[in-house]
Amino acid sequence: MMPDSLRAQRKEDHLRFAEQSFRDHRHNDFDELHLVRPTLPQTSVNSDNLATTLFDKPVSAPFFINAMTGGTAHATEINTALAGVAQQEGIAVAFGSASIVGHEPQALAGFVAAREQAADVPVLINVNPGTPLSVVSQLVEALEPSAVQVHVNVVQELVMREGDRDFHWAEPLAAIIDRVHDSYQLPVVVKEVGFGWDVASLRLAQRLGADVVDVAGSGGTNFAVIERLRREQDASDSVDYSWLEDSGLSTVQSLVNAQQVAGLTVFGSGGVRHPLDVLKCLVLGARAVGVSGVMLHTLVNCGAEGLRELVSTWKLQLAGLFALYGAPDYQHLSSVPYWLEPRLEAYVRQIVQG
Ligand code: FNR
Repeated sequence: MMPDSLRAQRKEDHLRFAEQSFRDHRHNDFDELHLVRPTLPQTSVNSDNLATTLFDKPVSAPFFINAMTGGTAHATEINTALAGVAQQEGIAVAFGSASIVGHEPQALAGFVAAREQAADVPVLINVNPGTPLSVVSQLVEALEPSAVQVHVNVVQELVMREGDRDFHWAEPLAAIIDRVHDSYQLPVVVKEVGFGWDVASLRLAQRLGADVVDVAGSGGTNFAVIERLRREQDASDSVDYSWLEDSGLSTVQSLVNAQQVAGLTVFGSGGVRHPLDVLKCLVLGARAVGVSGVMLHTLVNCGAEGLRELVSTWKLQLAGLFALYGAPDYQHLSSVPYWLEPRLEAYVRQIVQG
């Protein structure tokens, strides 16, 4: 059994090393996909065009603050600020894993406090697939979310010294999905944490009953890097896993994979740096777009008001992009043409078209 102090320290480490390894506008696969812009788009910029619903609640934009932290005093401070910004700007927010509540019941109060800040927008809670069903129920009843996220993170677990070594997760995942559906009639989002999704696993998640898969592909926050930085704190730990740092499927690759799975709703996330990346996810078929690293980086460096300004600016810029790319509404986005650089094109040729 992991001591409480290690669990709390790990949360702190993740926040610290995510920020330490954050690089603004780093090159990723979004740069290998180019949207084709009409010279005469016959549109005008209108922020109302972004308004949509997410889990039956109105939101002012299709992007949201994705899962990061929770369960310690510092994590509560962060979630409370994120929830406040989401509420002010009318976007959805997901809290980081609340599975800690199963081991440390007192951690629930921090999630409740943060949740209260986001009364009118969709709030997602997050657990790992090993979370006991009684804890899932306790969390849903206390936090009244719009949806439950379950994260799957095999690479992170393997690289983590104290991580899981048994990845038979389909059965517990299905049990959580059934519990959330049957007892609470809420949707379940199954998500990665930055290594993306292949077609077979997308199909499996769909068969298990996932309502949404959030691809959380590579290109941004990288937990193989974060866990390496954690290991490097300990001089006696020389185990090297750095060669797994490029093992992710990117968000673009994962969204292309999802196009092969009929009837699957997907969110795009992982490495989203600015509104053009949001637009690219939508064009590839994402129903909504999650952002973590950029949100945390902005909150840490510019405070809650700085983050609110960023979200507000992204909304204006995304509305501008809808107009620029000839899309007066969401329906038109699927017909925006795009082309791929050779590396991505090779992926599509070899893996998707087989
Ligand atoms: C995360 N992420 C994450 N995901 C999850 O499902 N549960 C969690 O508890 C956490 N914890 C967490 C902590 C920190 C500090 C970060 C930065 C991220 C992963 C996150 O939701 C997202 O999938 C990845 O960060 C990829 O998106 P970005 O950061 O590239 O936008």
